Amino acid sequence: MTIHAGIVGVGSKVPDKVLTNADLEKMVDTSDEWITARTGIKERRLTDYETATSDLAYEAAQKALEHAKVAPEEIDCIAIGTSSPDTLFPSVGCILQDKLGATNAAAFDVSAACSGFNYGLAVASALIESGQYKCVLLVGADTLTKYIDFKDRNTCILFGDGAGAVVLKPFIDGSGILANHLAAEGAGGKHLVMPGGGSRDPELRKSRYMSMDGKEVFKFAVRALETSVQKVLDKSGFKIEDVDLLIPHQANVRIINHALKKLRLPKEKVYVNLQKYGNTSAASVPIALDEALSEGRIKKGDVIVLSGFGAGLTYGANLIKWSV
Ligand code: COA
Repeated sequence: MTIHAGIVGVGSKVPDKVLTNADLEKMVDTSDEWITARTGIKERRLTDYETATSDLAYEAAQKALEHAKVAPEEIDCIAIGTSSPDTLFPSVGCILQDKLGATNAAAFDVSAACSGFNYGLAVASALIESGQYKCVLLVGADTLTKYIDFKDRNTCILFGDGAGAVVLKPFIDGSGILANHLAAEGAGGKHLVMPGGGSRDPELRKSRYMSMDGKEVFKFAVRALETSVQKVLDKSGFKIEDVDLLIPHQANVRIINHALKKLRLPKEKVYVNLQKYGNTSAASVPIALDEALSEGRIKKGDVIVLSGFGAGLTYGANLIKWSV
């Protein structure tokens, strides 16, 4: 009897405030035409000053719990992929545990930037497969726009805020998360950095904003997406033709298209919603998963691949045979 972790509930939340490419034209030297052609992004959502990552995480988690018909007390463990926690400590996991009243849950954050949800899924899956936990809440949530210099056209056009959540339970019918692959290229860490607040620079005012070498990150991202998908196919024994839907990290449509060409996967089998939200970091994959489910793009038995890449540099993927 092999146990796999299956997803039984999904939910997401994005802030109401919309920042369009036309709005950005008034802030930096850019154009809707350039942003659309180079990234595919048309608009993104921004949190207000008072809203923090745990607020978005809470709303996404509540929806996922409702969808799964799970009460907060039933949760054994809460894991949150985030790189924009409310505070360095306590973790967003602990803040969320309190907000939800999930008094029986262990709680922690997963720090793998935009790969945080895929890293978290692999950890949650292992905790369930081992028999340690029966119900895990995993959230991907970020408010990276708070760390962006809106005078820097290199980064401010790319990112948005949001949260997505899933509830995982054990399955013994051959469905669930069947394979994952996690990887890191620490040597490339310098290409995407958020130094502020860290112990290397505790004085936020010196380097409050993220810095990025877009070209280096682009090359890495195409390679990471292709490799991670290929690795979970190899590990699970499935072929690219068996994949019903790929949900990649929503960073840039050109990154996705380059990887698809290499993987020989048709565009119809890929879910893309980055035109509406930009890059919401660890939240992008679970938000896309939630929308794909609501649109009827996923049904029981489907083979779904989730893949993420980001600062670290990190990347990872999970192959799921959909359980419910
Ligand atoms: N608006 C208008 N022009 C811009 C611009 C903007 N926002 N940003 C850069 N440009 C200009 C450059 O100055 C350059 O002009 P030049 O040719 O006169 O020097 C030209 O456009 C091309 O710039 P370049 O940096 O080569 O563009 P690019 O095709 O590499 O696209 C990114 C830039 C950032 C969109 C792209 O590199 C990218 O998406 N990288 C990955 C980033 C990412 O996904 N990060 C998160 C990973 S989780």
